[in-house]
Amino acid sequence: MTEFDYRDGMLHAENIAVSEIAEQVGTPFYCYSTAALTNRYNALRDALAAQDVTICYAVKANSNQAVIRTFAELGAGADIVSEGELRRALAAGVPADRIIFSGVGKTRDELAYALSENIHKINVESVPELEVLGEIAAERGAEIGIRVNPDVDAKTHEKISTGKADNKFGIDIGRALDVFAKARAMPGVKPVSVAVHIGSQLTDLAPLRAAYETVAELVTALRADGHEIDSIDLGGGLGIRYKDETPPPLADYARIVQETTGNLGCQLFVEPGRMLVGNAGILVTRVIYDKQGQSRRFVIVDAAMNDLVRPAMYDAYHEIQPVRETRANTSTTDADIVGPICETGDTFARGRALPPLKTDDLLVFQSAGAYGAVMASTYNSRLLVPEILVKGDKFAVVRRRPSYDELLKQDQLANWQ
Ligand SMILES: Cc1ncc(COP(=O)(O)O)c(C=O)c1O
Repeated sequence: MTEFDYRDGMLHAENIAVSEIAEQVGTPFYCYSTAALTNRYNALRDALAAQDVTICYAVKANSNQAVIRTFAELGAGADIVSEGELRRALAAGVPADRIIFSGVGKTRDELAYALSENIHKINVESVPELEVLGEIAAERGAEIGIRVNPDVDAKTHEKISTGKADNKFGIDIGRALDVFAKARAMPGVKPVSVAVHIGSQLTDLAPLRAAYETVAELVTALRADGHEIDSIDLGGGLGIRYKDETPPPLADYARIVQETTGNLGCQLFVEPGRMLVGNAGILVTRVIYDKQGQSRRFVIVDAAMNDLVRPAMYDAYHEIQPVRETRANTSTTDADIVGPICETGDTFARGRALPPLKTDDLLVFQSAGAYGAVMASTYNSRLLVPEILVKGDKFAVVRRRPSYDELLKQDQLANWQ
């Protein structure tokens, strides 16, 4: 069984024709493959098996509880960035002692909640955050991580680059020794871990190596200062193939982890998101109209930028194909694939070769499992896009499409009396 492929002229998700799901749940919808999620997770786990590494799935990439549960059942922890994500991870069955809290703007309430749930680690990203955490933890005590900013260019899209000195993330590497010393001096706080995450969709391992080397040097320096550093959080960031990228082999990534941190005797954590879910999901949409403009052909579909914002936000590329397999001798013409939203930015792709299409034909956006449904909104009062999880020849609706009633009930009229 393969995860997503064409059989009998039709795209299948595992053993179900995607058109069958569309018939039952309507469009647009996201569809994830359990086999794909499992295979990605196992591949990473196996690559890192020689070292003491815990995989904490970065829930932000796809926070559907059914997806989180799939990884939790495989033994994964979770990397979370908000109270909402923490609640989702716990509800999905991730043990609290496998949860790591990252993020530049954790509020006092969020920090207090995370401490009360006894999560594995909070990775502090600034001195003001450290001071707030110090106040909350003074009595109960907390072992913490400190995320450093290694000033490394991850060579990815600037909007998902997080490890340069001018990015908002982490403590500047040059101040790290001072901040660890400050943390140690606080009653109740014990800094025992160094964390780093330099960006997302990395297809070159050199920046990761540079970041990990910097972290390893810091661990050595911290130990020389008397800190008991027992773990390193290496972040996420591994890229996937959307078009023609060549993501680094996991064995090469594992070798870099080993070469940079292997001799430190630290427990290691990684926080992959996109790499685990990106190619385990698709977005299925229906053609509304195939419209010939004065100079361009527009295929208008029923998914829009509110359902999948990556192309509008990051100029991201997704393969877009008919769900019914196009015969080899079918003639195609270039088309822009656009949604119905009243913004020119609601354009998924320009100049893609597509066969003639009619209303109700199904199209698939490939590689839509990461940073897809999680970024969806109801802009233009469109209903939130549903999510489907496939396993073998079964599928489950793991987030249903809300009704218009539910959408309208979210607002209340002001009662001024
Ligand atoms: C701290 C942290 N860890 C992990 C990730 C996951 O990144 P990716 O999906 O590229 O693996 C992110 C993403 O922004 C992050 O900010």
